[in-house]
Amino acid sequence: MKNKNIAIDGPAGAGKSTIAKSIAKKLQIVYVDTGAMYRAVALYFIRQNIDTESREEIQKACDSLEITIDYKNGEQQVILNNENVTNLLRKEEVGNMASAVAKHYEVRKKMVELQQNLAKIRTVIMDGRDIGTVVLPDAGLKIYLTASSRERAKRRWNELSLKGIPCNIDEIEQDIKARDKQDMNREISPLCQAEDAVLVDSSQMSIEEVIDRIIALYLERLERG
Ligand code: DC
Repeated sequence: MKNKNIAIDGPAGAGKSTIAKSIAKKLQIVYVDTGAMYRAVALYFIRQNIDTESREEIQKACDSLEITIDYKNGEQQVILNNENVTNLLRKEEVGNMASAVAKHYEVRKKMVELQQNLAKIRTVIMDGRDIGTVVLPDAGLKIYLTASSRERAKRRWNELSLKGIPCNIDEIEQDIKARDKQDMNREISPLCQAEDAVLVDSSQMSIEEVIDRIIALYLERLERG
């Protein structure tokens, strides 16, 4: 395997980040969460009240925002114009805005460049929507990780309920379907399975089973050379 990077793509809520983070630790490689970068752009758009349908405003915003990535105790930190915004990115509102800003060429160009530069200097496991297709087309292992929308909604419902946040599973599923639709149908780099990606449907699998399966595939390819 010439290229030791791992690319994981898939829809929202399929468990990509939990799984990629754990694999990174086990294989001692670096986890790059590209969704967090689009979320940081989204946070900037929300704060500056930028119209996501105005090309001019989007270009201006892209010119005035700087995103850099740092690592603290092995955890990715996202710096937006010198402010560490890592802990402000997980809200639903930011995720939905991220999906809206990610449609735009100007935003994607900037993010893809940043992501490719990160992978130039280290071995990475990177997750997102276009990693196997656009960002790391030569990755040694590509995974398309998915699960049914109901299963993804159930997992999210569990997460929120455990935190004591009241929520409705049907509404969560509707949200997930809307985000899938937006990510899969945009013109530029839509979410899709790369031709040479291995499909992993985690609907009936535990997190540990998914992790073990991906690591086994990786080690098999390393051994093959
Ligand atoms: O994985 P996430 O939920 O943090 O991603 C937030 C949004 O960012 C997602 O709905 C689509 C967009 N995104 C993208 O277009 N390309 C990526 N490589 C990663 C995320």
